[in-house]
Amino acid sequence: MMEEAAKLIAHSRFLIAFTGAGISAESGIPTFRDKNGLWEKYRVEEVATPEAFRRNPRLVWEFYRMRMKLMKKAKPNRGHLALAELERMGLLKAVITQNIDNLHREAGNKNVVELHGNIYRVKCTSCAYRENLLESEKLEEFLEEEGLPKCPKCGSLLRPDVVWFGEPLPQEALQKAFKLAERADVCLVIGTSGQVFPAAYVPYIVKENGGYVIEINPKESGITPIADIFLKGFAGETMEHLLAKVKRCLKDKGC
Ligand code: OAD
Ligand code: ZN
Repeated sequence: MMEEAAKLIAHSRFLIAFTGAGISAESGIPTFRDKNGLWEKYRVEEVATPEAFRRNPRLVWEFYRMRMKLMKKAKPNRGHLALAELERMGLLKAVITQNIDNLHREAGNKNVVELHGNIYRVKCTSCAYRENLLESEKLEEFLEEEGLPKCPKCGSLLRPDVVWFGEPLPQEALQKAFKLAERADVCLVIGTSGQVFPAAYVPYIVKENGGYVIEINPKESGITPIADIFLKGFAGETMEHLLAKVKRCLKDKGC
């Protein structure tokens, strides 16, 4: 299976990756729906919906500040790094991620489509103000404050620039992801339960357009029934093996 997957990747014309929380698990960031997952500890309706934010912005900001701190400490793992290497090799054309942790960019991927936002971005609830706290170098300051963050332009409440349940995805990112999926002849699906739509349409669109789906996950997911190749395993180790095989395949003309 691994050989077959490596061959498909080495000969691909337009390879994309579609990732979920599982790829960051080995970086110490908990997933959502696994045992000990985030949605076991917190209730979605209390921390990740527009209603929750209206009702109790303090609690929601506490939750997101906690996640910011955790994600700030996390480092890209072998799975992220292998994807960055595949991009440098010219094989991987884009990473479409449901993750907000910024780890694909930190690993070195340039073409990253974030479907659910980014933990380091904030936006105003009234005006068009947006800020990336990493770029403005305000992250430390922001994390030390405990009160509710206010917009420097209009004074309204700031909110995390992430997608909450019941909210539409950023349209530009979604359109871009679907276009990439239409073009892709191979899609690597890594560490997602495939249960959250519209994001999870990505591998279906690849299949509909004649592309191959290679999935990496220690457990079967909602995507497994349409996967051409299922590599059972953790993202870091499996991606490292796969990358090594792709490199060997590219050297060896018989592959
Ligand atoms: P889930 O928590 O639903 O699924 C995580 C997947 O990762 C599962 O299929 C696990 O088997 C797999 N997994 C766990 N450890 C792994 C490892 N080391 N290597 C590879 N795979 C591993 O997370 P997502 O599918 O990302 O949305 O969830 C999708 C969306 O639901 C998230 O973006 C978030 C969440 O609610 C929003 O917040 C809008
Ligand atoms: Zn404002």
